[in-house]
Amino acid sequence: MSKSTEKVLITGSNGLLGQKLVKYFQEHNIEFLATAPNENKLSFCPNKNFAILDITNMVKIEEVIQSFNPTHIINTAAMTNVDACEEQETECFNVNAIGVANIIEEIEGTDIHLIQISTDFIFDGKKKLYAEEDTPNPLSNYGKSKWRGEEVIFESGYNNFTILRTSIVYGVGEKLNKGNIFSWAINELRAGKDLNIVNDQFRTPTFVDDLVQACAKVVDSNEFGVYNIAGGELLSMHEYIVKVANYVGADVKKVHAITSEKLNQKAQRPISSGLDIDKAKTELDYIPTEFVLSLSKIDLDN
Ligand SMILES: NC(=O)c1ccc[n+]([C@@H]2O[C@H](COP(=O)([O-])OP(=O)(O)OC[C@H]3O[C@@H](n4cnc5c(N)ncnc54)[C@H](OP(=O)(O)O)[C@@H]3O)[C@@H](O)[C@H]2O)c1
Repeated sequence: MSKSTEKVLITGSNGLLGQKLVKYFQEHNIEFLATAPNENKLSFCPNKNFAILDITNMVKIEEVIQSFNPTHIINTAAMTNVDACEEQETECFNVNAIGVANIIEEIEGTDIHLIQISTDFIFDGKKKLYAEEDTPNPLSNYGKSKWRGEEVIFESGYNNFTILRTSIVYGVGEKLNKGNIFSWAINELRAGKDLNIVNDQFRTPTFVDDLVQACAKVVDSNEFGVYNIAGGELLSMHEYIVKVANYVGADVKKVHAITSEKLNQKAQRPISSGLDIDKAKTELDYIPTEFVLSLSKIDLDN
């Protein structure tokens, strides 16, 4: 497909990944429509490229998809606060699972390519690195709802889809509703505060720009199926934040290691849910940016 025929609809455009996708398609002159459940918060996204879209609202889904007529939909929209999902189960499933089913219902019978963003939290964390074919066994409402969001695609029989599973996405963005551990840690360290970070949960932190590149590659090449898109290093959350602290010149002694049991978060997290990225490397030419290099590409004062 030539670039001039691509029309990409992005859901969740005010979120971290959503806004980076908006920027990418804008900079590459690819036609896009940014959508979010409330107003356009992005200074760089013209309102002519924006529409209100709550993916739990079937009427709006129908209206927006039919009027924009996309070739691709990248569904980044999700309830992503893992502990809030534990307390608000219905809302969490409405967005993360029923929202996906709504999109599928609307695009059935078309050849629109759906790119669904999923998570390592669909796994139970008993294995070091998970491959695409490993069996999900989510522990939290967030993980269960995101897995259900994948299942509704598989069960629908709709074939034009790509699921990109990712892990601890980092980067900075404009007016984000939900803070992420990366930005939070930098702010706290710069304020001279002490942090307690778990040292018994292992992830493959993912540079948001790498995830954007993977989405763009999928739009361009129309590769279908399930792919893991993550960073190249398996790190404990403590190791991850120590690296960030080192980079920003903060006192690493302020980053204290704590166990998950002691931290006692509302939602249970997988112990080790790193993602094996060999398939994406081979089939999508995916190359994650080396961790310190990625930090040098982030405007940390933003
Ligand atoms: N961040 C991570 O560490 C991580 C790890 C693994 C997988 N993922 C997945 O990656 C995707 C993008 O994550 P992210 O980091 O960009 O998350 P994010 O910053 O929380 O963005 C998600 C966006 O979805 C929007 N949203 C919530 N409910 C919606 C609805 N009913 N209809 C339309 N939009 C809705 C939110 O709107 P508001 O701005 O109004 O809240 C938010 O802007 C998600 O699917 C997530 O599950 C993320």
